[in-house]
Amino acid sequence: MPADGLQPTMNIKYRERHDGAHLSIIALRDKVKVGAIWLKIATAEELEGSYDAIADTDIIEEDGEVGFLNDLVVNKDCRRQGIGRELVARLRAFAAREGVLFLYVHAVNVEDVDPVPFYEECGFEKIGEDSGGDPYLKISSISS
Ligand SMILES: CC(C)(COP(=O)(O)OP(=O)(O)OC[C@H]1O[C@@H](n2cnc3c(N)ncnc32)[C@H](O)[C@@H]1OP(=O)(O)O)[C@@H](O)C(=O)NCCC(=O)NCCS
Repeated sequence: MPADGLQPTMNIKYRERHDGAHLSIIALRDKVKVGAIWLKIATAEELEGSYDAIADTDIIEEDGEVGFLNDLVVNKDCRRQGIGRELVARLRAFAAREGVLFLYVHAVNVEDVDPVPFYEECGFEKIGEDSGGDPYLKISSISS
């Protein structure tokens, strides 16, 4: 159990904001933001042509719209309590409702944390990497 005595994910509220092709979700504990993620929905052409999160082209395999995860972060003192997993699960559920069948992420190593084990635990699979070795991963919005 965490040092604050809370059960994992207890007392966490999730606030979703949907604005056109963007969905952002923040996790709040006692009204303090402890985690965040956002999703952009677009076609491969739109994403690969002008989107900073994609360093390489020909990553996205689908013709229609896909979702691209961005800027997932959970506060250091709130990690390993299931908050990151819940943020991703909520994005997946949203994407499925929107008819967006696949989600992508560029797993860039920040804060000396390798995020790949987290994404793989969430069900993502590696599909390639950029020239610096940072992988791209993908997941279906609807499979378990
Ligand atoms: C990656 C990150 C968002 C994970 O958030 P989190 O809330 O701690 O993740 P969860 O508690 O939901 O973890 C779910 C599972 O993923 C795996 N996992 C999570 N963090 C892990 C780590 N550092 N190493 C190995 N496995 C990890 C575990 O299997 C974990 O389940 P468990 O705790 O029961 O073993 C968080 O570590 C973070 O903010 N890192 C810095 C920013 C970052 O790297 N963002 C991603 C950029 S692409």
